[in-house]
Amino acid sequence: MRVLLFFLSLLNLLTTIFSYNALIYSPAFATSHMNFMAHLSDTLTEAGHNVTFLVPISEESLRNRIKVRTRHLINVEQDEIYENHFWEAGDELMQTVWTYVESPEKNKEKFKLFENRTIETCGLLIRNRKVLEILQNTKFDVSITEPLSICGLAYSKILGIEKTIIASSCTMYDHIMYLIGEPDHPSYVPAMQSTYTDKMNLYERYQNYQYSVGFIETMQNVFEAEIQLFSEWNISNWHDLYSETSLHFVNSNPYIDFPRPIIQKTVSIGGISVNLEKIKSEKLSDEWNNILYKRNQNMLISFGSIAKSMDIPIEWKSNILDVIKLFPNVTFIWKYESDDLEWAENIENIVFMKWIPQTALLNDKRVNAFLTHGGLGSTNELAYLGKPAIMIPIFADQMRNANMLRRHNGTISLSKFDLGNLDLLKKSINSILNYQKYSKNAEQLASLLSKQPMEPKETVIKYVEFVSKFGPFPTMDPSSRNMSKIQIYMLDIYFILFFSYFITLIGFVFTVRLLFNYLNFRSTKNKTKNKLN
Ligand SMILES: *[C@@H]1O[C@H](CO)[C@@H](O)[C@H](O)[C@H]1NC(C)=O
Ligand SMILES: *[C@@H]1O[C@H](CO)[C@@H](O)[C@H](O)[C@H]1NC(C)=O
Ligand SMILES: *[C@@H]1O[C@H](CO)[C@@H](O)[C@H](O)[C@H]1NC(C)=O
Ligand SMILES: *[C@@H]1O[C@H](CO)[C@@H](O)[C@H](O)[C@H]1NC(C)=O
Ligand SMILES: *[C@@H]1O[C@H](CO)[C@@H](O)[C@H](O)[C@H]1NC(C)=O
Ligand SMILES: *[C@@H]1O[C@H](CO)[C@@H](O)[C@H](O)[C@H]1NC(C)=O
Repeated sequence: MRVLLFFLSLLNLLTTIFSYNALIYSPAFATSHMNFMAHLSDTLTEAGHNVTFLVPISEESLRNRIKVRTRHLINVEQDEIYENHFWEAGDELMQTVWTYVESPEKNKEKFKLFENRTIETCGLLIRNRKVLEILQNTKFDVSITEPLSICGLAYSKILGIEKTIIASSCTMYDHIMYLIGEPDHPSYVPAMQSTYTDKMNLYERYQNYQYSVGFIETMQNVFEAEIQLFSEWNISNWHDLYSETSLHFVNSNPYIDFPRPIIQKTVSIGGISVNLEKIKSEKLSDEWNNILYKRNQNMLISFGSIAKSMDIPIEWKSNILDVIKLFPNVTFIWKYESDDLEWAENIENIVFMKWIPQTALLNDKRVNAFLTHGGLGSTNELAYLGKPAIMIPIFADQMRNANMLRRHNGTISLSKFDLGNLDLLKKSINSILNYQKYSKNAEQLASLLSKQPMEPKETVIKYVEFVSKFGPFPTMDPSSRNMSKIQIYMLDIYFILFFSYFITLIGFVFTVRLLFNYLNFRSTKNKTKNKLN
């Protein structure tokens, strides 16, 4: 017993010695982004590190959505100067989201609201000197922030944190590729919000480029405005804050995502938010068991929490109902936000639920397929749990997610406008429920993912510990960052080579002509001579 106690206290001592102080900056502005940062915190906390989770309350309504394991949770409360008009305007936007056509121009317009709120949030953090004082009393080894704002990195600078990590909760951010010197090739790498796959024609490549450039411009506007808030500390160069980062975590999985070149600072941790062990231990309630046993086949419908099912145009909703009526032997479980269900009365095989235990249902054999909007969270869950799905992306990065997963042949992609197309919807539901190839391919992908060489959690722990000890790594900063596109793509060299070939060719032609003229001259001279003779 004594020996055991001794070992336990030794272990305790060891974990204190090897535990690092980490600051994770995660404004409460969108559930999916917060969830991703929370998973990083959970992972590091479980590994014994002293994580401080810093949350400016950008959106009051999201305060209680944060489920995070951390030693210290610090909220930065809204003050009277803070102005946020995102939610009212955002609600309006979300109602139109079902019917507008995605384009690079539309994206820029949408991002105006996001820009305003991000800058306001940074101001909120800076004004709170009490929080700053508390944090200044701790020596942090490392900080982790999402690069949708420069605020976290600049704040780390004030706190004297040298080792910084950026973590992208989306598959990749176009502006980060450019800022950390990663090769960006819009010719075959779909931009984050692009509607295209990796095979594009001339026009599509142009549009993909516009998606990418549009996002970069938006983020530059945000950073320019945010960095003004740090003039008191003489911090003015946000480009350097990015290049000084030690590591870039990206929520992308190389076995699922479109292939693209990355630099060594970029580490893929896609799938970190899918906790397979926890999901496999989840139990469904009796109510759910009764629903699932009722018919032979079950299909789940969820469009996530941002674009609301209740805002789907009524013609499309009726059309979905007409299709559902054609499958009386299948139970459809629809995540739906409102009790106002008059439009859907007297249909036996449909169950409306305000909340669904999504991962437990996807993990259940009795659920045959999923109809999803393809948010990255749901996309990863689908892939890891091996369910066939119909993906109907609505906006943002969802088109890219749908295109990405379709390459693995376990899903069918439709456009949101197809919700009004009876024949296509019927055909797709029939295929996804009854064609073996979809479930076979989906299961194969899941089995691959469960055996990938590096577990995302293990990766996060090892890399964060490594950075905390040895970072930053200025020698990992690629020179390409200081070069122009002309230099990077060798356009100057190609031009010089082309020019020298051209000169040589001209010279050659000129010489041949001279020679020819000379010979011609001689032969004419000879002829004249002969004639004269
Ligand atoms: C853990 O972090 C907090 C800051 O949130 C700090 O006050 C505390 O001293 C740290 N603990 C250790 C053991 O360093
Ligand atoms: C955000 O929008 C509000 C209302 O339009 C405005 O008063 C505020 O100044 C804006 N904030 C920034 C940082 O642009
Ligand atoms: C910022 O720079 C000014 C002028 O060089 C200097 O007087 C001031 O102390 C600096 N402030 C900080 C916080 O370093
Ligand atoms: C539903 O199942 C019943 C009984 O198995 C069968 O007779 C009927 O044809 C099925 N209906 C459809 C539309 O598949
Ligand atoms: C998906 O299907 C296409 C067309 O049948 C095939 O060429 C491709 O190899 C398949 N991909 C996978 C990952 O199975
Ligand atoms: C880029 O240029 C800056 C300023 O000249 C220099 O400090 C930095 O080390 C350069 N970075 C690389 C990777 O060459």
